[in-house]
Amino acid sequence: MLIANPNATRGAYPEDLRALMNTQLADENRAWLSTWSHLSGSATPLWDMPGLARQLGVGQLLIKDESVRSDLGSFKALGAPIALLRLILRRFPEHDFEPRALLAGKHRDALADFSVISATDGNHGRALAAAAQSIGCRCVIVLHAHVSQEREQAIAAYGAVIVRIRGNYDDSVQEAAALAARNGWTVVSDTSYERYEEIPRDVMQGYGTIAAELIEAGGPFTHVLLQGGVGGLAAGVVSYFWERCGADRPTFIVVEPRQADCLYQSALAGHPTRASGSVDSVMAGLACGETSPLAWKFLAGGVDHFMTIEDEAAVSAMRQLAAGAAGDVPLVAGESAAAGLAGLAQLMASAPLAAQVGLDGNSRVVLLSTEGATAPDLYAELVGSTAEAVLQRQRAWLQAR
Ligand SMILES: Cc1ncc(COP(=O)(O)O)c(C=O)c1O
Repeated sequence: MLIANPNATRGAYPEDLRALMNTQLADENRAWLSTWSHLSGSATPLWDMPGLARQLGVGQLLIKDESVRSDLGSFKALGAPIALLRLILRRFPEHDFEPRALLAGKHRDALADFSVISATDGNHGRALAAAAQSIGCRCVIVLHAHVSQEREQAIAAYGAVIVRIRGNYDDSVQEAAALAARNGWTVVSDTSYERYEEIPRDVMQGYGTIAAELIEAGGPFTHVLLQGGVGGLAAGVVSYFWERCGADRPTFIVVEPRQADCLYQSALAGHPTRASGSVDSVMAGLACGETSPLAWKFLAGGVDHFMTIEDEAAVSAMRQLAAGAAGDVPLVAGESAAAGLAGLAQLMASAPLAAQVGLDGNSRVVLLSTEGATAPDLYAELVGSTAEAVLQRQRAWLQAR
């Protein structure tokens, strides 16, 4: 399913959006995080995939590999720590904390009684837990029934207290809000809701680093495919490109699981709304039923097309990337990471769809591989080999070059 966004614009970046997210703040975030022990000190690789590009029929295919952003396994390591830092700076102005010193744990004694809480599908909670551990404050993570045991263990490893509930992601968001109100804790969520925008804004702003690195790596790019959960990743990346490139920004295409299509439905409705399906998807990070209203402010005019894919297409894209199909470098891409390739394959398999979004043999396309094997057992089951085996193939491929 594909729709063109009737409200997409190519004008200059609007001032009201700049007041919410801007490249100056995004670049400041990037500088703050550059010393955090959980982040790789350099830009993530932008792999050229000439074999896949030829197979699909585009001019160039570039994949930004966020699996190596952090030992936390996903791009979400760029968001939660920034939101937590900015929250602490706002909450304790009298201390005059320095952000890098906070991340190095130098103020843990002053923050030992400060508690944050969040619901999560996995990656955001893991990043928040790790940031809280580095800073030295308390962290509680609420998990819904579909979050796997191995994802729970990965979060608990960073010292977070885990609360399990029945129900789905949306129920866990409500439970986190209720626990926070009862205990005087602060919710650090990656999705916004009524009268709760500042913290999710900071999370999204953190993702701007991905766009900054892409621009530095050398544009222009004609198309960027962005997978959508609540819309935060897409908003953070779109906003940065829009402000920097204005009318020359790439064409943005948002890809979601068919049964968790809240952004697609929002584009149809012209305002933030709910998914039309069961929400559950193998793409755990994209299995979100409700659009973040704050993210929607950026997607409403900044995204050109919205599309949905099937779970099987994402799994087949994971396998293709792991195999190093068509002679390209083998990549470890988790369930949510492979959505962009699945979306591109769907578009290129149909001449009318490719024409609708302007994809052809001259296109320079960017995909974001947003996570590695963040659920290693599930990854091995779906792909048929472990992430370590794929990385071994990657090393051999690089040596043979
Ligand atoms: C690996 C991965 N990719 C993409 C997303 C989508 O991000 P957002 O919910 O901000 O749209 C998520 C969200 O958790 C994720 O974990």
